[in-house]
Amino acid sequence: MKTELLNPNDIERAAGIIRSGGLVGIPTETVYGLGANGLNPMAVRNIFQAKGRPQDNPLILHIPDPSWLEIYCQDIPEEAWRLAKRFWPGPLTMILKCKRRPPEELKNSPVCSLTHEGPYIIPDVVTAGLDTVGMRCPAHSMCRAIIQAAGVPVAAPSGNTSGRPSPTSAWHMLEDMDGKIDAILDGGDCQVGVESTIVDLTCQPPLLLRPGGVPLEELQAALGKIELDPAVTRQLEKGEKPRAPGMKYRHYAPKAPVVVVKGSPVRSAEYILEHLSDPRWDGVICFNEFANWYPGYLVELLGGALDTWEQARRLFRALRAMDETGVKRIWAQCPGDAGMGLAVNNRLNKAAGFHIVEV
Ligand code: TXA
Ligand code: MG
Repeated sequence: MKTELLNPNDIERAAGIIRSGGLVGIPTETVYGLGANGLNPMAVRNIFQAKGRPQDNPLILHIPDPSWLEIYCQDIPEEAWRLAKRFWPGPLTMILKCKRRPPEELKNSPVCSLTHEGPYIIPDVVTAGLDTVGMRCPAHSMCRAIIQAAGVPVAAPSGNTSGRPSPTSAWHMLEDMDGKIDAILDGGDCQVGVESTIVDLTCQPPLLLRPGGVPLEELQAALGKIELDPAVTRQLEKGEKPRAPGMKYRHYAPKAPVVVVKGSPVRSAEYILEHLSDPRWDGVICFNEFANWYPGYLVELLGGALDTWEQARRLFRALRAMDETGVKRIWAQCPGDAGMGLAVNNRLNKAAGFHIVEV
């Protein structure tokens, strides 16, 4: 299959491909997504195929407007409307209860058996058979225009091959998906750079499943108490199950093993300097302030030591850049947990398989 590279004028074309069951790379403010008609089980199955994604890892649905929640979800708590008002459109995904299909539809309707099986309006293949669904209303203007024009909820995981860092440019997505999908619409570089924050509103108190583009502190200000799923901050023990199935998989990983070094920026920079060995094989991802500390080594800058937004924006790009070089080991500085630091920590820890040094 030839993968077309579309430009911002091709919104209608992108929407048309989605409506007719194809796969399109769509820009969002977080990362590029691999979009398909979320009501078409065949199209959704092709997403799993193109990514090499495990079948038990559900997809989130992208909608143009909060009012669409009522079409696909039920028992929507007041908190969901509050969060939608405050953070949508934007990098927040809410886990809500799926709406059941009316009983008469479930009984021998030929139309429905053609479209999908399962008790909910959203096909089982989207939710991996769960009774909940992740809903997101993205902020990227082209993404919104595509969903509006398609007129269907768009199922979209991040547009990377499973396990690789998520793509933050059309070019990065093409690297992974060329020849496997119909098209990618180039909407420029992603402004957030890490995926959406996921909050589960089907439990009390709400549970943070994945830190992302909306910092935890802002969610707390809007909601009050929130708990953190253990998978956010540590490696799960054998047999432990995260609530977001995707959090159990190795993820965001470049080819070379990563060592994350935590501590004050100067101490972690010194630690890396003391432990570097061969300039041919060791690469460093460091804060801008230390750009000149490792002459001769391959260095990717993460942003200023205190600018966790910039770090989030650059992280996946830096991990992918390391892959281009053939380095055999990557040392990475890591910010504290405040603000966007929690998301940067989470992605770096996962990229490193929780190989973390505290200095
Ligand atoms: O920013 C984002 O969220 C991007 C852009 C494209 O919108 N999308 C994205 O999708 O990151 P994905 O599939 O790469 O990550 C979604 C995560 C996975 O870890 C999945 O397991 C979890 O959300 N998830 C999806 N549905 C869920 C559900 N019903 N309950 C718990 N976790 C769910
Ligand atoms: Mg992903």
